[in-house]
Amino acid sequence: MRGEFDWAGYLAAFHQNRPGVMESVLSRTLAGGHTPYRWLARAVSPRASLVVDLACGSGAVARELAREGRTVLGIDLAESELALAAERAAGLWIRADALRLPLADESVDAVVTSMGTVVIQPARDLFVEVARVLKPGGVFAFTAPTALPLRPKDLATSLRIVGHLRSRPKFPGPTEVTGYVDALAGTGLRKVEDARERYHFEVASAADAELIVSALYLPATSWKRRRRTITWLAERVASDGPVSVSIAMRRFVVLKPARA
Ligand SMILES: C[S@@+](CC[C@H](N)C(=O)[O-])C[C@H]1O[C@@H](n2cnc3c(N)ncnc32)[C@H](O)[C@@H]1O
Repeated sequence: MRGEFDWAGYLAAFHQNRPGVMESVLSRTLAGGHTPYRWLARAVSPRASLVVDLACGSGAVARELAREGRTVLGIDLAESELALAAERAAGLWIRADALRLPLADESVDAVVTSMGTVVIQPARDLFVEVARVLKPGGVFAFTAPTALPLRPKDLATSLRIVGHLRSRPKFPGPTEVTGYVDALAGTGLRKVEDARERYHFEVASAADAELIVSALYLPATSWKRRRRTITWLAERVASDGPVSVSIAMRRFVVLKPARA
């Protein structure tokens, strides 16, 4: 995939055609009974009264964040995702680009995004925009997929899926390679946590096989190839029983320091 690939067009079409697919997978992706959505929401102080969920999709994190006395704004580019979010919960669902937020400087207590940092690019511009809208003392927390801490056994299943797809899932932005730490330099934000957790999605039926393969960004893979992979995975489940797909997630928390 070379530089000129139209990621904006790919993402717009993907989310137009499959709104909510990310939530359908991540809401069943579990570690110790909790989802990556809950893990992300826990990074926000109960005292935060105005919280923004960037690239909110169908609104899963915004719903986790809802509490008495707090306003949560869900912001996304895709109308279809926002429509689903509005169906699932009353709330403030706003169509906007995360790189040009319709919010005043230093107006927000906390910003979160689940998977937003791997699609909103460049990451540094996103950090700069988040730093602009955060109040001093405010926090930006995000979750994103990562390679570690998967074990060889966990990786075996993912590698077999990738082998059938003949392509790895891709994102517009780097996940591990350049790292978020470099992108933070000079933005005024300071890292306070970088944690990793292993989650599992259980594929127990042909419908689950279809769901997990449909949720992957695979710009280089034909639908015929996806279909064959779904069939292979569904047959494996039918013959051997449920298949656990491991998904490692990273939670990064950064602070905009309070003024002295
Ligand atoms: C991987 S999905 C994550 C959705 C949701 N946060 C979740 O985890 O279920 C990425 C989302 O980012 C949105 N998106 C992509 N580029 C964006 C941008 N520049 N500004 C706002 N949202 C964007 C897409 O429309 C999509 O809903």
